[in-house]
Amino acid sequence: MFEIAPSILSADFTRLAEEIRAVEAGGAKILHVDVMDGRFVPNITIGLPVVKSIRKFTDLTIDTHLMIVEPSRYATEFVKAGANMVSVHVEIDPHLQRTLTAIREAGGQAGIAINPATPLVSLEEALPFADFVLLMSVNPGFGGQKFITTALDKLRRLRRTIDERGLNTKIEIDGGIDATNIEKIVEAGAEIIVSGTGVFGKGNGAEGVKELIDAGTVWA
Ligand code: DX5
Ligand code: ZN
Repeated sequence: MFEIAPSILSADFTRLAEEIRAVEAGGAKILHVDVMDGRFVPNITIGLPVVKSIRKFTDLTIDTHLMIVEPSRYATEFVKAGANMVSVHVEIDPHLQRTLTAIREAGGQAGIAINPATPLVSLEEALPFADFVLLMSVNPGFGGQKFITTALDKLRRLRRTIDERGLNTKIEIDGGIDATNIEKIVEAGAEIIVSGTGVFGKGNGAEGVKELIDAGTVWA
């Protein structure tokens, strides 16, 4: 089983409401929201007020991916704004266990995001405190980048670690995923598949989600 989480970064922001209705119609259950601060990553996107507005408009699970410095200052604010899932990068939080616990105590699902060049061993101690891992298959900052192929082996190793440790931690993967590679990614054990360009790139979010569900279902 897997879910598609459309990343609104690739949506038409002037028609965000319609874009959200389209991915709902296509069968998406999760909406991925990329929060960037121009410091942890070289791009600035959206923040709390947009999450609050989206919350009023949809019942989809809101998944906020925090690509910001000092994530512990804002993580629970995103839960209060209506996010259901909040992920924090392991590279930028020296007190990750505390931040994850705070997200959970605020009522959210806590996630650890990890960049392509960061080794999986850096997740080892914090894993039991996380509801999900967000494995990056591009360097975060922009939509439309190419899938880094070594992420596939990293995904398989993470799947094995989680299974061997008997944890329930879900695996989400993000970056460069479309109908051409989703099958392998689902087969390797990812449960939540983020896609921006793959969903919105052709101008029809409903079709984009359906296409990915079809392409990934072969091995599911
Ligand atoms: C990249 C973001 C991704 C991005 C994915 O920094 O974290 O969520 O929107 O976009 P695609 O699917 O186009 O690579
Ligand atoms: Zn993301």
